[in-house]
Amino acid sequence: MKRLGIVSLFVLLLVAFLSVWNYSYQAGLEEAYVPLEKKEPYPEIPSEKGVFQRSEFALDYAAMPIDATHQRSLKDYYDNRAYHGAPPSIPHEVSSERNMGGNACLKCHENGGFVSKYDAYAPVTPHPDKINCRQCHVPQKTQSLFKITNFEKVAAPKAGINNALPGSPPVIPHQLQLRENCLSCHAGPSAPKEIRVSHPERVNCRQCHVINNKEVTDIGNFIRK
Ligand code: HEC
Ligand code: HEC
Ligand code: HEC
Ligand code: HEC
Repeated sequence: MKRLGIVSLFVLLLVAFLSVWNYSYQAGLEEAYVPLEKKEPYPEIPSEKGVFQRSEFALDYAAMPIDATHQRSLKDYYDNRAYHGAPPSIPHEVSSERNMGGNACLKCHENGGFVSKYDAYAPVTPHPDKINCRQCHVPQKTQSLFKITNFEKVAAPKAGINNALPGSPPVIPHQLQLRENCLSCHAGPSAPKEIRVSHPERVNCRQCHVINNKEVTDIGNFIRK
C-alpha cells in the first residue's frame, strides 16, 4: 500500500511536470505580441506633422520595383518650372476649361500611378488639400505666344552634395514651405531618379535630415585676388 502511494505520488509529479513544461514550451512558440497602447492624439511636433502624411504607403514604396523606362530626371523636373519652387505648368490637356481642379485632378495626382494616355507616372501632389489646383497651375499654352527672354532661373540647390561625410545623411537643401510631405516627391515611380529615397520606410525623415538654414551674406561677385 505504502509503495503504491509513493509510486502514484511520483506519477502525479511527472504528470504535473509534463503539463507545466508543455505549457511553457507552447507559450515560448507564440509570437511576441506587444499591443500598442493607442493614445490619441499622438504627441507630435506640429511643424513636422507633414512628414507622416503618406507614411502608410512607405512599405509599398520600399517594395516597388524601379521602372527605368519611365523615370524622370531632375532636368525633366525643372524644365517644367519657371524657377525652383515655382508651381509646375500642366503638361497635359485638362478635361474641362471651367474646372478649377479638385477631384478632377486628384483622381490621378493624389496617389499617382501609371497613365498610359500620357505614357508617364502621375506625380503625387504634396498638397492635396489645396483643391483649387488651377489657381496656381496653368496649362502650357505659351510656347508659341511669347518670345525668348533673358530671364534666368534661380539656380536650384544641387542634389548629391549635401552630406558632410560619405554615408552621413544629407541636409535638406531646400525650403520646407509646401514641401512638408517628403514622400510625395522623394518616393515612388514619379520621383526624379536623383532624389528617389532608398529608405522610404524610415518614415520620420526629419529625425535624421535637418534643414540647411545657415545664414549666408551676399558678398557680390567673388574675385580671387
Ligand atoms: C488621367 C490622369 C491625370 C489627370 C486627371 C490629371 N493629371 Fe496632371 N499629370 C498626369 C500625368 C501622367 C503627368 C505626368 C506627365 C509627364 O510627365 O509627361 C501629369 C503632370 C502634371 C503636372 C506637372 C507636374 C510636374 O511635376 O512637373 C501638373 C502641374 C499637373 N499634372 C496638374 C494637373 C491638374 C491641375 C489637373 C486637373 C485639372 C490634372 N493634372 C489632372 C496625369 C493626370
Ligand atoms: C497655392 C498654389 C497651389 C495650389 C492651389 C496647388 N498647387 Fe500644386 N504646386 C504649387 C507649387 C508652388 C508647387 C511647387 C512646389 C515645390 O517645388 O516646392 C506645386 C507642385 C505641384 C506638383 C509637383 C510636385 C513635385 O513633384 O514637385 C503637383 C503634381 C501638383 N502641385 C499638383 C497639384 C494639384 C493636383 C492641385 C489641386 C489639388 C494643386 N497642385 C494645387 C502650388 C499650388
Ligand atoms: C515638392 C517636392 C519635394 C518635397 C515635398 C520635398 N523635397 Fe526634398 N528635394 C526635392 C528636390 C527637387 C531636391 C533636389 C534639390 C533641389 O532641387 O531642391 C530635393 C533634395 C533633398 C535632399 C538632398 C538629397 C541629396 O542627395 O543631396 C534631401 C535630404 C531632401 N530633399 C529631404 C527632404 C525631406 C526630409 C523632405 C520632407 C520634410 C523633403 N525633402 C520634401 C523635392 C522635394
Ligand atoms: C535613421 C536616419 C534616417 C532617416 C529617418 C531618413 N534618412 Fe534619408 N538618409 C540617411 C542617410 C544616412 C543617408 C545617406 C545614405 C548614403 O549615403 O548611403 C540618407 C540619404 C537620403 C537621400 C539621398 C538619396 C539616398 O537615398 O541616398 C534622400 C533624398 C533622403 N535620405 C531622404 C529621406 C526621406 C524622404 C526620409 C523619410 C521617409 C528619410 N530620408 C529618412 C538617414 C536617414
